[in-house]
Amino acid sequence: MENIKIYPDKKTHKHTTTYKLREDLIGLSKDFDEASYLEIGIAAGFTIMSLIGHYKTLHGCDTNKGLVDQVREQTNDVSVCHGDIFAMDKGKYDVVFIDGRHDYDSILSDTLGVLQMNTASSYKIVYHDYGLVAHPSRNMEFGVKRFCTNFYQEIEFLGEPKDWNPAAKDPATDWEAACVSITSINKETLLEKMKNESR
Ligand SMILES: C[S@@+](CC[C@H](N)C(=O)[O-])C[C@H]1O[C@@H](n2cnc3c(N)ncnc32)[C@H](O)[C@@H]1O
Repeated sequence: MENIKIYPDKKTHKHTTTYKLREDLIGLSKDFDEASYLEIGIAAGFTIMSLIGHYKTLHGCDTNKGLVDQVREQTNDVSVCHGDIFAMDKGKYDVVFIDGRHDYDSILSDTLGVLQMNTASSYKIVYHDYGLVAHPSRNMEFGVKRFCTNFYQEIEFLGEPKDWNPAAKDPATDWEAACVSITSINKETLLEKMKNESR
């Protein structure tokens, strides 16, 4: 719990997660023995460094080299890769947190990467910024909710339920994050559907 509050939360720093979601990410680790965590889009590392001591291994990637170097300088407890999910080695990740770009096509690509690179037989994917709606002045779309409702029947919601984004001008009209389970039963079907959609 102590690490969670060392780093600023979403209510004051727009490019990270709330304390509540960090608690929930720690909660998910308890479902696995020697749990391993992967974060796509670590930015300054506030969320992933909050989880040190709660996961056996922590892995992250980011397409911004400056941010990757910054996190590497701060800790040896996190294995950091410069690039997207496809730049990483295949590995077993029990909890995967997707928090890179939030348009529909980027989430589709990141998820396809996870389904192909993760060797765990059963794991969780957590999608951040599920409930964000772009401010009308911005020419952009948050596609997380549309993506999740398109591909997953069962979704568990995590983090703050609403009004968790005061530091940024995009309103939060729904839950902060969506969590889904990937198993040997649904993995191949999801992979096929997502590949078809990305063509
Ligand atoms: C909202 S910030 C992430 C915040 C961080 N997860 C946290 O909770 O503190 C998004 C980050 O994703 C990175 N990014 C964007 N697209 C990416 C991708 N496809 N793969 C990895 N990182 C990506 C950006 O460089 C940026 O640093």
